[in-house]
Amino acid sequence: MRVLVIGGAGYIGSHVARFFADRGLEVDVLDNLSTGTKENIFPEYGFYKEDILDYAAILGVMKRGYDAIVHLAAAKAAGESMVNPEKYALQNVSGTINILNAACEAGVQNFVFSSSAAIYGEPKYLPIDEAHPKNPENFYGFTKLEIERILEWYDRLKGLRYAALRYFNAAGYDPEGRVRGLEKRPANLVPVIMEVAMGLMPQLEVFGTDFPTPDGSGVRDYIHVTDLARAHYAALMHLANESKSFAVNLGSEQGLSVLEILEAARKITGRAIPATISGRRPGDPAKLVASSAAAKALLGWKAEYSDLTTIIATSWRAYETHSAQEKK
Ligand code: UD1
Repeated sequence: MRVLVIGGAGYIGSHVARFFADRGLEVDVLDNLSTGTKENIFPEYGFYKEDILDYAAILGVMKRGYDAIVHLAAAKAAGESMVNPEKYALQNVSGTINILNAACEAGVQNFVFSSSAAIYGEPKYLPIDEAHPKNPENFYGFTKLEIERILEWYDRLKGLRYAALRYFNAAGYDPEGRVRGLEKRPANLVPVIMEVAMGLMPQLEVFGTDFPTPDGSGVRDYIHVTDLARAHYAALMHLANESKSFAVNLGSEQGLSVLEILEAARKITGRAIPATISGRRPGDPAKLVASSAAAKALLGWKAEYSDLTTIIATSWRAYETHSAQEKK
């Protein structure tokens, strides 16, 4: 099976591409390297440095003939999306529409889309299942929901079969230590903690300890990136075999608090990891936890690498390896 992984040089995309290649799929990566890194392009992949806003360029690549496209090229900072919505409208909405139109023109039939728990907004109940009301609190979540709606129409009108994978909080690195390109200027909790542990950032700011949670800090459902990669593979196989579109949550079904993660990181890294408590970040809910029952029923998938120790230990290994390489 021949697959084009768009955004395959990025954090999640690089793990998906690696996992697919490990299972014998023929992998090509299309990425503009704006946030992804060349280190994540393995020698056996075909690589196209193109921008998803360039319709002619991506159509040219797609005409090489693919069984499926996995699209993970998007801007993902929820806070930034509220102050710079133009960037998110262009990259996440226009960029994806370009990809969909090119895929249809080139005759690609299967499409795996990186959606997000952010489409649900403030939780009305927990755990969040796929039937939960969809009221995004930030523009980033809105862009993902818009694309899911467009996908429903393209399924009906163009026969494009899609899997919309609604990630909760992606974290961790390849347990085998092969994916080495780290995220640049991270804003998410685990990579920020890693940067503080490495001495690259002075301290962690804990965004609020006055939430109605056991220790007062925010609780999220952290899902290991290898579990996400496994789910992409299962989703693609399901699409190819059943030819029927679907949308599923991908979470560990476990809630972890900011302070629990900080403590585990201090233990595992052996570093002090200075932290200060600051005010809540606007738009942050107290607690988000997924129900992944639908992914289990449909794909036979459940999280296997998403315990706190594996998430922190694999992240730390990636950061330490990277810094050792840079010193060489
Ligand atoms: C958000 C989005 C999610 C998106 C993800 C990727 C929502 C509801 N969720 O997740 O869909 O895929 O971003 O960017 O929009 N925290 C700190 N200090 C920090 C950073 C984070 O205390 O320096 C806390 C946050 O307050 C939160 C937790 O850590 O409680 C996780 O935050 P973060 O990693 O930014 O992800 P989300 O905001 O949950």
